[in-house]
Amino acid sequence: MSEPTAAPKKRIFSAIQPTGVFTLGNYIGAIRNWHKLQDDFDSIYCIADLHAITVLQEPAELRKNTMRAFALMLACGIDPKRSITFVQSQNPHHAELSWVLSCSTMFGELSRMTQFKDKSARHADNINAGLFTYPVLMAADILAYNADLVPIGADQKQHLELARNIAQRFNQRYGETFTVPDGYFPEQGARLMSLQDPTKKMSKSDENANACVYILDDKDTILRKFKRAVTDSDTEVCYKEGKDGINNLMTIYGAVTGKTMDEITAEFAGQGYGPFKEAVGEAVADHLAPVQAEYARLIADKAYLTQCMTEGAGQAFRITRKALQKVYRRVGFIDRL
Ligand code: TYM
Repeated sequence: MSEPTAAPKKRIFSAIQPTGVFTLGNYIGAIRNWHKLQDDFDSIYCIADLHAITVLQEPAELRKNTMRAFALMLACGIDPKRSITFVQSQNPHHAELSWVLSCSTMFGELSRMTQFKDKSARHADNINAGLFTYPVLMAADILAYNADLVPIGADQKQHLELARNIAQRFNQRYGETFTVPDGYFPEQGARLMSLQDPTKKMSKSDENANACVYILDDKDTILRKFKRAVTDSDTEVCYKEGKDGINNLMTIYGAVTGKTMDEITAEFAGQGYGPFKEAVGEAVADHLAPVQAEYARLIADKAYLTQCMTEGAGQAFRITRKALQKVYRRVGFIDRL
């Protein structure tokens, strides 16, 4: 009797922009899940440099940041031997597919994207077409690999919904072509908030340096940022509506220690906010210390990083070449050489 063959693994795709050091939001909201899922799924992770140029970038800085982001991704535990890791611009199929998909995307759909509205308000002097069509490129990233699952934070949910709509529309128009992907969100921390204004998302682009923890911040900086975190006039550490600052700190503490909200409340009962904030800072710094050490090692080894990028781009290219061929046939293009 022949051995039963194992079902093929489902596929995951996700990406992050190389626009500076990753934040604790990027890490807890997305990259930790990438790491967690890489053994159980066929995983593909990418540094989205094509997306980054929708906002003005200094070219030399972008090149450096892309190398740093790639090293950071590996330092966070993404293993190029277990996952395909590459840089988006090194695989031309993303941009090619994006054009085809843009012809199955409605202007009205793109106009409704909240991130487009936010970013065009913030960069009023550079509301370029790429900023507008950005979600189509993101759909191309995902659909080119026929990903089943996309681990992301809550702020990318609307873009993922659009990718699903584009896939469904294309499939209806041209016949079954793309897998319709699902989002995958962390149980805790799908939306980490600013430490200075807990009604706003924690974001790299925040002008207030204390609002955001970067994963390469040193211990003193991390402790200081948490000490200064905005909370409320109450004293009880408990997760409740209206306590946005404390809820956010509890979410962060829970995410890095694995403790539940009830356990955290019990741990700090009667102690007030001071010791709690200090404990959050300590726990985050301890959690990030190995990532920082690994980053320091990797960034000094450019030859290894370049080799991983090149191999990853080759692997990615071979997957998307097949997908593109199918798409081109479906839409009626003559086979290319
Ligand atoms: P980016 O680079 O802004 O963020 C990378 C990931 O981090 C998550 N994230 C957060 N999660 C929780 N709390 C926060 N405060 C927080 N801030 C950021 C994001 O949700 C994201 O998962 N367009 C994407 C990159 C991209 C992509 C893709 C993602 C390009 N192509 C295809 C998935 C699939 C972006 O700008 O993410």
